[in-house]
Amino acid sequence: MWRGFFISLSRNRIMKERVMRWGFVRRAASRFVAGETLEDGLRALRELEALGIRGILDHLGENVESAADALRATEDYLLALDRIETFGPGKPHTVSSLPHLAVKLTHLGLDIREELCERNLRRLIERAAQAGTVVEIDMESSAYTERTLNLYRRLASSYPNVWIAIQAYLYRSREDVERLIEEGIARIRLCKGAYQEPPHIAYPRKRDVDANYIRLMERLLSAEARARGAYVAIATHDERIIQHALRRVAEWQVPREAFEFQMLYGIRRDLQVALARQGFVVRVYVPYGTEWYPYFMRRLGERPANVWFVARNLLRA
Ligand code: FDA
Repeated sequence: MWRGFFISLSRNRIMKERVMRWGFVRRAASRFVAGETLEDGLRALRELEALGIRGILDHLGENVESAADALRATEDYLLALDRIETFGPGKPHTVSSLPHLAVKLTHLGLDIREELCERNLRRLIERAAQAGTVVEIDMESSAYTERTLNLYRRLASSYPNVWIAIQAYLYRSREDVERLIEEGIARIRLCKGAYQEPPHIAYPRKRDVDANYIRLMERLLSAEARARGAYVAIATHDERIIQHALRRVAEWQVPREAFEFQMLYGIRRDLQVALARQGFVVRVYVPYGTEWYPYFMRRLGERPANVWFVARNLLRA
């Protein structure tokens, strides 16, 4: 119910216009968003780099309504890639030590026309390959899952530098993961899922989502999946799952190049640093931009305590 409330707020335009003007909300959002400009995002990436943590740069935006807006978003991402290139020599490889780029397909025009979105995405993937880095496709609500996977499938065999997010809360993810492994294109960021989905599409109970997460994670870490080129980014702050992953990795002698941990900017920094100090690849998702409202609402929906954090900012105002 809690999550549903914030997800519906995230889609409400009137609330968006109002809330984005409130200074205390902007201050609270700055815990999760690096800032409004590309420079802010790059600064956060440099700070993480100094701690031995890699990054994923996300220019916030979703559900654009015109081809011109989708093109503008693509051009902004291309500028971001120009700057990512300056982080050092990357390798035109499946995994890059340079910051990756995260994109939402509805930001590139998926709501308008699939071909338009594909054209924009291709430009980004090709530029990212030149720069020696990776484009990670975020997974949005279930209205987009099939189209997102189809688009990924069309591009992934030609471009090894594209990854996709898979949500453990969806029933279908088990089959999707199997298919991607079979096709040799399982380069997956495994997350729990951040949208509000009905019970015929997604596990309603958290413990079932967690159990499915572990099942999918183990499958992707298995020797059989790895032999078919699987690479998993374990994208969670759930310490229980992370400890489980560490146990499996040790037991199954999974090389450190076969997986990584991913977390969100501003969440569990202590854990990010601790894992990086132990020599694991840790990559943090760094969002920046003026369109922070829906992203921030999803973060509030994930954790009731975050609302107290907003309230504290109001009291401090
Ligand atoms: P869980 O919700 O069980 O939380 C575990 C612990 O993490 C909590 O006890 C708390 O300590 C901390 N925590 C979690 N959320 C917090 C928050 N908002 N504020 C403060 N603390 C918090 N989703 C999606 O649908 N599509 C996508 O493409 C992505 N991409 C993505 C990339 C990366 C790098 C990450 C880490 C996550 C995503 N997600 C996502 C979001 C994901 O689906 C999920 O909603 C959040 O990660 C929260 O779930 P946890 O796995 O952290 O577990």
